[in-house]
Parts: sequence; structure tokens; C-alpha cells
Amino acid sequence: MSSPRDLIRAATARLTEAGVASPEYDASELLAHVLGTSRSRLSLVDDVDAQQQADFEDLLARRATREPLQHLTGSAAFRHVELQVGPGVFLPRPETELLAGWAIERAQDVGPGAVVVDLCCGSGAIALGVADEVTDAEVHAVELDPAAHAWAARNLLGSGVVLRLGDMADALPELDGGVDVVVCNPPYIPLEAWASVAPEARDHDPALALWSGEDGLDAIRVLESTAARLLRPGGWVGTEHADVQGESAAQVFLDSGRWTEVRDHSDLAGRARYLTARLAR
Ligand SMILES: C[S@@+](CC[C@H](N)C(=O)[O-])C[C@H]1O[C@@H](n2cnc3c(N)ncnc32)[C@H](O)[C@@H]1O
Repeated sequence: MSSPRDLIRAATARLTEAGVASPEYDASELLAHVLGTSRSRLSLVDDVDAQQQADFEDLLARRATREPLQHLTGSAAFRHVELQVGPGVFLPRPETELLAGWAIERAQDVGPGAVVVDLCCGSGAIALGVADEVTDAEVHAVELDPAAHAWAARNLLGSGVVLRLGDMADALPELDGGVDVVVCNPPYIPLEAWASVAPEARDHDPALALWSGEDGLDAIRVLESTAARLLRPGGWVGTEHADVQGESAAQVFLDSGRWTEVRDHSDLAGRARYLTARLAR
């Protein structure tokens, strides 16, 4: 028998050695997962039995090879919702909660019946976050990859979100000109940045979720024209982008001449994170 505190201390050292960015957090999450409790309640556990230790050891070994934490626990938190995740779907990131929060505010401004479209929905994180916090909105979600779409279908079941399998380029023609908010976290990593991407993402997130041409802006170019087609005049689009794309992503929207109020937003660390714009009236 060992105490949670001793196990976490040893596991933290091991994950630090393996280059994991948040070793103590991950060790605690994995132990809580094995014990069927939450991280905040670990201090209430006196001892961990031999079988539980063996299970923890297995997960720790996998995490040390940089398998993502959320693949090991099977879930990811996003704003106030929990998503089922695993191989085949992009793991929702905390920074995307900012973009989702922006979309939620725009939908709330519109009022009951606001029509919101989440393009490139992956696990369904943004769509589910919007549906959860703006219960009177009409939310649609689109995903191209069948494997990711299957995860989204599981997560969006019973949420009221209308999910489509397909390319955002020609998605939802029946909504043309009638959408209030288009929100998107597209693939945006330039191909040349391959070496700088963390192993958790590079080796485990689907390629279709990450890369987007030489400059990383191919999907954002498609989004620009799709959003212009879907939105009503005065409707809003918001898209996440890489921290080096604060100016180049905005330029895609400025160049088309279809947008007003093109503005970039930074995250809490001051990095350029997402862009918003409004379809000219
Ligand atoms: C960066 S992930 C974001 C997933 C989710 N929105 C999130 O924030 O967790 C991008 C997603 O876009 C999907 N995708 C890529 N190209 C697409 C396209 N042309 N149409 C629709 N979805 C696309 C990928 O399969 C992937 O699931």
C-alpha cells in the first residue's frame, strides 16, 4: 500500500524526466482516474491498493511516451461541459474556450433563436459549449473527417445541435444568408512548423486537424468565403489561428473587402489567438 502523495511525487519526477509540460497535474489526474475520484478529492484517500498501483503504473508509462493525458482518461473538459475523446479526434484546448466565449456572447446579443454554426467542429467542443450556455440558440456543427464526426455525434447526442458530415466549403447551403454567428477552430499549422509541434499533438491529433498548407492559412481562406456565404449582413465570424498569424489571418479577411470590424484578440499570455469580423451590410 502507498499513499497518493508518495505515488504522485514519484510519478511527477518520472513525467518531468519525460518532458511532460504539466507533470504534477497529469500524475494527479491519472491517479484520480484510476481511483474513480477527482483530483481535488485525492487528499481524502488514505491508501492505494496493489491493483490500483499497477493500473496507475500502466497509465503513467503511456503518458511518459507522450500519449496525451485525455486519451488515457477518455475525457476532456471544455468550459462547462465534458467531452468524450480518444484516437481519431482533435483534443479540445483551453485556449479555444476564449473563442467559444466570444461566440456565446455574440449569440446572447442576438437573443432567442440566434443561429450559430461551428465549422470544423472536431469533438463538438465549441458547438456543445454554445448550446450549453445559450440554450435558446439554434446550433449547427460541421466536420469533414468521419472518425472525428463519430466522436462529435457521441458528444452532441441529446444536445439539440444539428451535426453534419462534410466539407465546410459547401456546407449548409440551406442556411445561406441566415446565420448570425460562424465560429471555427480550423487546422492552421504551417507545414514547415512540423518539428516545433509537441509530440502529443504531432503524433496523436489527426493530421487533418493540424496542417493547412505552406503558410497554415488554407482553411482560413475557405472559412472566409464560407462565412461570407452563410452569414446575414452584419453577422459575425470568429476564427482561431496560430500566434504568428495575427496579421496574416486578418489580411485574408481585409483582402476580400467583404468585412468590417476585423479585429484580432490575444489570450491571457498576450499571444495573438483569434480573429473576429463582421459581414458588411
Ligand atoms: C483544430 S481541429 C478543431 C476541432 C474543434 N473545433 C476544437 O476546437 O476542438 C480542426 C477540425 O477541422 C476538421 N476539418 C479540417 N478541414 C475541414 C473542412 N474542410 N471542413 C470541415 N472540417 C474540417 C478536422 O478534421 C478537425 O476535426
